[in-house]
Amino acid sequence: MTAILIDGKAIAQDLRANIAKAAADLSQQHGIVPGLAVVLVGADPASEVYVRSKSKAVIDAGMRSFDHKLPDTTSQADLIALIGRLNADKDVHGILVQLPLPDHIDSSVVLNTIDPGKDVDGFHPVNAGRLATGQRALVPCTPYACVLLAKRVHGSLAGLNAVVIGRSNIVGKPLAQLLLAENATVTIAHSKTRDLPGVCRRADLLFAAVGRPEMVRGDWIAPGATVIDVGINRVPGDAGKTKLVGDVAFAEAREIAGAITPVPGGVGPMTIACVILNTLRAACAGAGLPEPQV
Ligand code: GUN
Repeated sequence: MTAILIDGKAIAQDLRANIAKAAADLSQQHGIVPGLAVVLVGADPASEVYVRSKSKAVIDAGMRSFDHKLPDTTSQADLIALIGRLNADKDVHGILVQLPLPDHIDSSVVLNTIDPGKDVDGFHPVNAGRLATGQRALVPCTPYACVLLAKRVHGSLAGLNAVVIGRSNIVGKPLAQLLLAENATVTIAHSKTRDLPGVCRRADLLFAAVGRPEMVRGDWIAPGATVIDVGINRVPGDAGKTKLVGDVAFAEAREIAGAITPVPGGVGPMTIACVILNTLRAACAGAGLPEPQV
């Protein structure tokens, strides 16, 4: 059996169109144009690419984008002062500080100064706590993307065995919480997990978020399982070029899985869509409005 390809690019386009419609309604009915401030410190080329695509997605959705590009010599105090101004700015509904930050800046200290109501990355401990306790929260965009993709395949995730490989604060832990909120039975696997292939073979839903190229092999996957690959790894390709691969050995996995995300074109485009979705959600929550339906 060859797996169904989960077309993250097409699904994200569809979601972005719905977000644009909801943003237009918000503007017409309440005079609110959602705005996202993206802060980039330094000139990491990968970060510059991400930041550009986020800003473009925001503008394409009819929202406002406020870009702040700071030199890598920026002090932690100056960065925190900028966040303070963005927290107070009525036109800014979402704030995203692109990671990684330069070594002389403590990311946790900086991220904890973002107003939790504007924290579109969902990294603030208040949002992590809200997610864990089932309250309305801004949730991290990559895990959010993963769950939306899994729901596209299954509708309901209730009762499914979900295995998440990776326990980072950005992906693994919040993904496990989101899956629990969807009533899945959740296992978090990591580098110390015994018999990782055996644990993975029990998964109806397998999420790979370890950052190790093609670590998950075809024979780790239960026949018919849904595989969501969060990895984006640059490896040597043909003719001295590089190529992007996921954390899953795609060619093997697609012969066994029931559905699988490609890399690129799977989780990545959906993550960008979730950044603008969170900006819309933050704008609605900030105005005391209900969750937008998109
Ligand atoms: N760098 C890599 N992934 C992310 C992310 O999800 N959010 C932010 N702010 N920076 C990142």
